[in-house]
Amino acid sequence: MSSLTPYFENETLTLYQGNALAVLETLPDGCCDALITDPPYMLGAKSTYDSKARCGNWADMENSAHWYAAWMKEGKRVLKPSGWLLSFCNWRSLPVFMLATVRAECPTHSLLVWDKDIMGAGMCLRPSYEFVLFMGMPEAVIANRRQKDIITCRWTYNRRKLHPVEKPVELLERLIALTTRPGDTVCDPFMGSGSTGKAALLLGRKFVGVEREPEYCAIAAGAMGVEA
Ligand SMILES: C[S@@+](CC[C@H](N)C(=O)[O-])C[C@H]1O[C@@H](n2cnc3c(N)ncnc32)[C@H](O)[C@@H]1O
Repeated sequence: MSSLTPYFENETLTLYQGNALAVLETLPDGCCDALITDPPYMLGAKSTYDSKARCGNWADMENSAHWYAAWMKEGKRVLKPSGWLLSFCNWRSLPVFMLATVRAECPTHSLLVWDKDIMGAGMCLRPSYEFVLFMGMPEAVIANRRQKDIITCRWTYNRRKLHPVEKPVELLERLIALTTRPGDTVCDPFMGSGSTGKAALLLGRKFVGVEREPEYCAIAAGAMGVEA
């Protein structure tokens, strides 16, 4: 599929250990039916770590938007005209994501609220939700027109601990079922512990995944039942 050597490859699964953008750039046009991903939310944003700057730092946000737009553009290119690009984000990163969607010319169709059914840690209100942006290519249609834009799915971090921000496989299954059919190809260029890939394979989809960190790449491969 790509000129790069995969970390693992068989008929239904291709995994790359490397940089998301560098791998996406080598994938052919229109090779995927959905790109469902969970990228780092704020790259180098001082406001995330420095409590004195909680109002945000626009220069950092601009840098993040530039990078999000770069991989979104490549994501669009590898999608079929009926494809969906779904990305997790939170209230702090949402403005940056929206700026990037405009720059990448990715039409945003919906903003799904994932109700995590827990109370997270926080200095102010206790966080209990994240977002999933739904960006559709020109012929994209949703499988279930009765799906509301809020999904409740308990966050399972305390039980599994494969990755600090691991997403529930059950939630990924619902997102994949909404946007693809059996036999379709799902891509996650920031796969972490491999939740998207595990869900895709469980639903009979093919999967292409990328992860920069060797440790997480090995964990993701294990979650999908393979050893490189
Ligand atoms: C938010 S986590 C994904 C978690 C994943 N959804 C899960 O359920 O485990 C983002 C992942 O992207 C990886 N990452 C960060 N920058 C990357 C890059 N430029 N290319 C590929 N992977 C990257 C990080 O190592 C991290 O594992």
